[in-house]
Parts: sequence; structure tokens; C-alpha cells
Amino acid sequence: MRELGPAPLRVRILGEDLVVFRDRAGQIGVLHLHCAHRGTSLEFGIPVERGIRCCYHGWVYDVDGRCLETPGEPAGSRLCERVVQGAYPTHEFTGLVFAYLGPPDRRPPFPRYDSYAVPGLVLMPAAKFALPCNWLQVKDNSMDPVHTAFLHALSSGYQFTEAFGVVPELDWMTTEAGMVYIATRRVGELVWVRVCDFMPPNVHQFTREIEEATQAKSASRPVIIRWAVPNDDGQTTNFELAQVDPAWGLTAEQVAQPGFGQSDDRPYAERQRHPADFDAQSSQRQIAVHSLEHLASTDRGVIMLRRIVRDGIRAVARGEDPSGLGGSDGKLIRTFTQDTVLRVPPAADPEEDRRLLRATGRDTVTHR
Ligand code: FES
Ligand SMILES: [Fe+2]
Repeated sequence: MRELGPAPLRVRILGEDLVVFRDRAGQIGVLHLHCAHRGTSLEFGIPVERGIRCCYHGWVYDVDGRCLETPGEPAGSRLCERVVQGAYPTHEFTGLVFAYLGPPDRRPPFPRYDSYAVPGLVLMPAAKFALPCNWLQVKDNSMDPVHTAFLHALSSGYQFTEAFGVVPELDWMTTEAGMVYIATRRVGELVWVRVCDFMPPNVHQFTREIEEATQAKSASRPVIIRWAVPNDDGQTTNFELAQVDPAWGLTAEQVAQPGFGQSDDRPYAERQRHPADFDAQSSQRQIAVHSLEHLASTDRGVIMLRRIVRDGIRAVARGEDPSGLGGSDGKLIRTFTQDTVLRVPPAADPEEDRRLLRATGRDTVTHR
């Protein structure tokens, strides 16, 4: 909402060109971009007390797309009654404006994740950044924890903490919300369990990459919740909310900065020397070609994620709801994202220790 000033905002979502505006009474509207009269873009429209006025001939539409005025028509004209501007319902939450683009009779309650309200942490709008590629490869990344060891540590330099430089023991589980990855690393006598959620179809949640794993600690979850919004098949915009500990003393502007390497905010030469998430994801081709891939054991989470998405698409095609919406009762959806560091002495041999790590990881999720 910080972008939504007095001027309307032109956006593209799921291949549709739309305008977002706030009328003078404070209502937020998401309408089809092109005026129902003769198509002028409503990005040049003027928000009025109720709705938005098209600049070309002054027709006015309210946030529900109702035509309220056709001022050039003769008095008593009933043209308005026959004109509708396409409109989508909106929901404002913590500085983000959500629009529901599905069939009106299937509108689910706004999904409520348990991470929205955590005592002691303030939920704030965080970064917004775009990637010139398909949204699914952006989501694939969220269930691909082995890349945190390579991309973010071993192959292009330490981008987070040194603890990320250990290749983790990997595991994935389906959850009520969708699925999680569990990345478990041995650090001497300690075991660091990092868990991140995927909430289908396009949300994921992760902890900040600040864990040093130098001492045992119970689950901590200042998290970032990220929505990957497909602008169309070849462009994606990420929107984030972040849990912020007031003790960090961060300003809203600082929280709004994209994390290291998430956007194209670095010079090309530097991105080549120290590539990060933006570079890895957007260079898989604009739309990654799955038939050319050679999926490996570490891609199990990516395979599970794609299956969840595909099952959702098929459910919708059958006229059913996809999973992950949290049910019609709007109850809190449990998520598991956390960093937990436990004291677990190493097992006698490496293979047994790997089993111990996997069991410790699963335990951490099932006992949250
Ligand atoms: S094109 Fe919008 S009022 Fe004519
Ligand atoms: Fe990453």
C-alpha cells in the first residue's frame, strides 16, 4: 500500500492488465485497466469520492466496477445500467493489497497462517522485487535447500553465515498447509535444524539467514512470508511480509530492502562473480523446460512441490478447490518455519549420524 498514492497504479497479474487505486473515501479498487467505454487506460484516471473517473470522457466506476456516471450522455440516460467495468474484490492485510481473481462463488476465506501473529514480533511489509521468469521456478527454489549450501556458500562465496556452508541432511514432509523442507546440519556437538514452509500455490516462508548455530536454542521464528505473484508466464513479482523483532531497531525502509542477491540490484559483473538467487532462478530460461532437466535425489522437494501444484490445477479443472486454502472455517493454518539448534552428540559412524540427523529433523517438525 506504500506504493498506492493519489495516482492509480497499473499492474499485471496472471496475464491481466489491471489498475489499482484508492478512491477519495479510502476504498481500494482493482479494475480492468481499459475503460469499458473505448478502452483508455484507467492508470490515467482520476480517483473521485466514490470510484475512479476515466480521463477520456469522464465515466466513473466504483470499486465494484459499477458504472456511476456517463457525464456526456443526455440527462436521464440509463446507459450506466448496461455498463460494467471488470472488478476484483480486495483484502488489505498488513500493508499488502490482495485481490481475489477466482470465481465469485468459490471465494475462500483469506488464509490465516499462524505466523501472522507471534508475541513479541511485529509483522511488517518487507521487500517487493521482480524476476524476469516464470513463477514456478521461483517456487521450486523454496523447496530446494541444498542450494543454500552451494549457491549461498560453497560455490559463490559466503552470502549468509558460515554455518550454511555445510551440505545439510535433507528431508521433506507434507503438512496441513502444504509442505516443509527440513535441512539438518551437524555443527560439532550441535545439530542445526532449519525448516521452511511452502504454502501452495505460490507462498513460502523462511527464517532470516542469520543462524550461526554456535549454541543450542529453541525454535526461533522471525520469518519472512513471500508471495510469488505471476504477472504473466514470464514475469514474477515477489511480495513479502516480515516478522521483525523491535529490538533490532530496524526502520520500515530497512525492512523493505530485498535480501542479498534477491533482485537485480547489483552490477552484472558482480552478479557473475557472486551469483545469488535472482541469477540462479531467472537464468533457468524465462520458462524452465522441465523435459530438459535431470532431476536428482536433492530435487525430491521440487518434485513434491510440483505435484502439489499440479494436483491443485487438476482439482480446479474438476470444479473442486485446491488444497492449502485452510478450509472454509478460516481457522489458523499451522506452519513450521524455524531455526532450532540442539545438543546431539555425533553417532559412532557417519552413516548412523546421517540417520540421527534426519530423525532429529523430523522430530523437530512433528513436535513443534
Ligand atoms: S474511454 Fe473511458 S470514458 Fe471514454
Ligand atoms: Fe536462496
